[in-house]
Amino acid sequence: MEQYIINGGCELHGSVPISGAKNAALGIFPAVFLCQDTCRIENLPQISDVHNMLDILSSMGAHIRYLNKNAVEINTAHAQNLPTPYEMVRRLRASYYLIGALLGRFGKAEVALPGGCDFGFRPIDQHIKGFEALGATVQITEGGIVQAEAKEGLVGDSVYLDVVSVGATMNIMLAAVLAKGQTVIENAAREPHIVDLANFLNTMGADITGAGTDVIKIRGVERLRGCTYSIIPDQIEAGTYLALATATGEEVTVTGVIPKHLESITAKLSEMGAEVIEEDDSVTVRRSKNERLHRINVKTQPYPGFPTDAQPPLMAACLRAKGTTVFTENIFTNRYRHAEEFRRLGAAVSIEGRVAYVTGVERLTGAPLTASDLRGGAAMLVAGLCAEGATELLDDGYIDRGYDRFDACLSALGADVRCAAPR
Ligand code: UD1
Repeated sequence: MEQYIINGGCELHGSVPISGAKNAALGIFPAVFLCQDTCRIENLPQISDVHNMLDILSSMGAHIRYLNKNAVEINTAHAQNLPTPYEMVRRLRASYYLIGALLGRFGKAEVALPGGCDFGFRPIDQHIKGFEALGATVQITEGGIVQAEAKEGLVGDSVYLDVVSVGATMNIMLAAVLAKGQTVIENAAREPHIVDLANFLNTMGADITGAGTDVIKIRGVERLRGCTYSIIPDQIEAGTYLALATATGEEVTVTGVIPKHLESITAKLSEMGAEVIEEDDSVTVRRSKNERLHRINVKTQPYPGFPTDAQPPLMAACLRAKGTTVFTENIFTNRYRHAEEFRRLGAAVSIEGRVAYVTGVERLTGAPLTASDLRGGAAMLVAGLCAEGATELLDDGYIDRGYDRFDACLSALGADVRCAAPR
């Protein structure tokens, strides 16, 4: 359990180098099972979700060698297809990618149902639909273990996703890469991390076209070869810092980013009154503390719409805007737990189903808060930095799942934040 002590009210200045994308890394590491040569992965984010995923690979016999803190070599030639226990996947949503990758490599997978942030019901029926279309039989045991097997081997087919799902799109891609024949995923998700996984697989010799559109074609190949690959930058980590700078005022630059991936977020920050300056691989947000931010409307959507993962930090930035900002959460049924905590700081937030109304207040006041998920926890840090006085944020490891040394990066920008053990 971490305890962050935050003293709000500082203006922020400086630049933050952005890490590799969490959600790309979490698809790319299981994908390494599909290749029996050595893969070198660069721009590895230093976050606990990635360390947990690497621990799972290691427990299955993958050979992992750190070249430096942001680069690893992985070889799964001698890996064994062992069941992945609940204790290891408890907090890791992306453990479901092991099902697609192990099915593709061994024709069989046994993985405990994934954990991850609690945003309400998070089914994996579309993943299962995809595996079954490729010829696997899938069952979930009473103990919550997903058992998938393709006795005759996987054979490509068409899969239409009933909901646009990032996880199902990536998982079906993983299973299909070494299948016989062609797989077509229709109504596929288009997130940058889907394109990144496809690029990684293609660099290993896969034949995937259409990633980034809603129809992805995967022609099965016999085998994949080792490669060197660098993970794309994290759009949500970058978006969090930009939302923070908009909220606190002054000037912050995120570096090593792909500005196009941030457009849905920077468009909202501009509407709020921040000045957004895009360069080739950096984005700067500039805002004078003396001007009050404008209200906005935000509807979360699959990419290229506004990402649900950026909803909590953006809400934190809206708490003191003039007027009522309306958030509509279209991806998850219960993703406003941070909003309830914001009220402790004096925020005026009301929730009706998928809609949250945030009426800006003149001032927020520090209070004790508790994080209950990754992005919600980060948003509470943002809100604490906008509040007058001290905020103590209790966090059971959520923030470290997705941010590399968040408190140190915030301090480097001039924020008064320190992380201590709870009393
Ligand atoms: C991934 C991301 C998460 C992000 C989310 C949406 C990872 C590890 N996590 O989660 O950070 O918030 O995308 O961008 O990459 N659904 C079904 N059936 C399924 C699968 C999904 O009904 O089989 C529904 C979900 O309940 C949700 C919607 O589809 O309502 C989108 O979920 P999905 O895109 O699959 O999210 P995750 O892969 O869980």
